[in-house]
Amino acid sequence: MSAVTEGNRFMRNELSGLFSPFSCKSLDLASRFVMSPMTRQFSPGGVPDENVAEYYARRARADVALIVTEGVGVDHPSALGQGSMEEKDIPVLHGEHAMYGWREVVDRVHEADGKIVPQLWHMGALRQEGTGPYPEARSLGPANMGEEEISDVIAAFARSAANAKALGFDGIALHGGHGYLLDSFLWEQTNTRDDEWGGDPTRRLRFPVKLVEAVRDAIGPDMPIIFRISQWKLQDYDARLADNPEDLGAICKALASAGVDIFDVSTRVFSKPAFNGSEMGLAGWIRKLSGCPTMTVGGIGFDKELAASFTEQTTAIDNLAEVVRRFDAGEFDLVAIGRALLMDPQWVRKAEAGEPFKPFDISAYSRLD
Ligand SMILES: Cc1cc2nc3c(=O)[nH]c(=O)nc-3n(C[C@H](O)[C@H](O)[C@H](O)COP(=O)(O)O)c2cc1C
Repeated sequence: MSAVTEGNRFMRNELSGLFSPFSCKSLDLASRFVMSPMTRQFSPGGVPDENVAEYYARRARADVALIVTEGVGVDHPSALGQGSMEEKDIPVLHGEHAMYGWREVVDRVHEADGKIVPQLWHMGALRQEGTGPYPEARSLGPANMGEEEISDVIAAFARSAANAKALGFDGIALHGGHGYLLDSFLWEQTNTRDDEWGGDPTRRLRFPVKLVEAVRDAIGPDMPIIFRISQWKLQDYDARLADNPEDLGAICKALASAGVDIFDVSTRVFSKPAFNGSEMGLAGWIRKLSGCPTMTVGGIGFDKELAASFTEQTTAIDNLAEVVRRFDAGEFDLVAIGRALLMDPQWVRKAEAGEPFKPFDISAYSRLD
């Protein structure tokens, strides 16, 4: 046996914690490995088809315990719009055809012993007006939403969540990060309202809190709600939602009281310290401050973060030792993998077996395999 093989074997034993089961409410997972939500724009007319079902089932068959789907537009005309992609559309979760398509996806993932939750998404002011399924719809953000629009969007999230429950999804994920609608209410820079929906940190929380409560009412007490949160915004990678642990804790505690069970902590590099004076990453801080389980993500399997991988040479790396070290230190409960699972549906299985990872291939961003 070569030294390398022995090294791998030792390393794989160390991984065993990541292959231990995890439970939260009605969700039971075989391991800690999750597929991170990734928009693919392969659902013509918003309807996921056989290709999408097979794309997710392939990963479930290869030991991905939980799939968080690509962002799915909620049942409101202003939810989506990301340029003209012709047939390349982002899926929705309402209407007979999309419901039928998702039922097939859910069944296929379950047949493969995987679990799946939809990531419910409203782009807010980041939507490109004049595009998407309702090009005539006005884009909405904290700056221009009236009372009626606020309650309509909240109701849209609740309807889409109820649809997800009816289809047999295993929980609900909410896109609360990256500068999109929910995040834009939380962030001081974009929420400059001076009414009860903005003005101070507590009032900035009101929209996401009411929305989480409405989703909880729609799905009942047993299904978990996973909330994606991030410091970074698409408008500004160096932005911060919270400058210090106290402010971050106040946000997460309010969301947890409203019904959030798990925080999906979106960072660009999972191992980057979140605040000065500690090496702990953001998922670790949120776990400590909220008392909720957390999921880490960002740069696992790759030497470059997401934005850089579009323009720079990227190398597949095995940085699982650092994942294990932080997992053992109690920073997070779940580990989400994004690009590495686009590159290679077998990535989790290879991690388990100690097999080499596939090199980076930019064409994976436009493939559906
Ligand atoms: C092609 C692509 C599409 C993405 N779409 C979404 C999305 O719909 N919702 C979301 O929350 N994050 C999205 N992300 C971010 C990923 O979920 C993940 O957080 C990010 O890629 C960092 O993880 P990684 O380094 O493992 O790739 C996307 C990333 C990629 C590469």
